[in-house]
Amino acid sequence: MTPEQRELFDAAMAAKANSYSPYSNFPVGAAVRSASGRIYAGCNVENAAYPQGWCAEASALAAMVSAGETEIVAVLTVCDGDLVGTCCGGCRQKIREFASPRTPIYACGPEGVRAEFTLDDLLPHSFGPEHLRPQP
Ligand code: THU
Repeated sequence: MTPEQRELFDAAMAAKANSYSPYSNFPVGAAVRSASGRIYAGCNVENAAYPQGWCAEASALAAMVSAGETEIVAVLTVCDGDLVGTCCGGCRQKIREFASPRTPIYACGPEGVRAEFTLDDLLPHSFGPEHLRPQP
């Protein structure tokens, strides 16, 4: 693991430990590094009214935006299980708002990084803020 990944991984693991996931029993942690270099982490937060729960990535993004930052340079997620746990479709779009097509997204298990993608790998031909702005 690179030092960059290690810092994100440790933050995501710490957030995962606080996951509120009594319904799925599937704790997830996420960490994003912003343009300033700071790391924002979050966990999934479920709800007895199931659709009201949200993903770890959403928590991390909310922490970043709440701190006044809107540019992501790297994303890391961690979850249990044997498969590579990639971000859900909704989270790919949420990340898209604040990242570039080349932004790395590291998918981890508890032992470390299992796969590395770019945002464009996970969400090709995506729709983003620039579509709403007049092009020069
Ligand atoms: N989950 C995440 O936190 N991130 C993802 O990208 C995939 C799914 C959460 C949502 C729910 O609390 C649990 O994992 C099972 O779907």
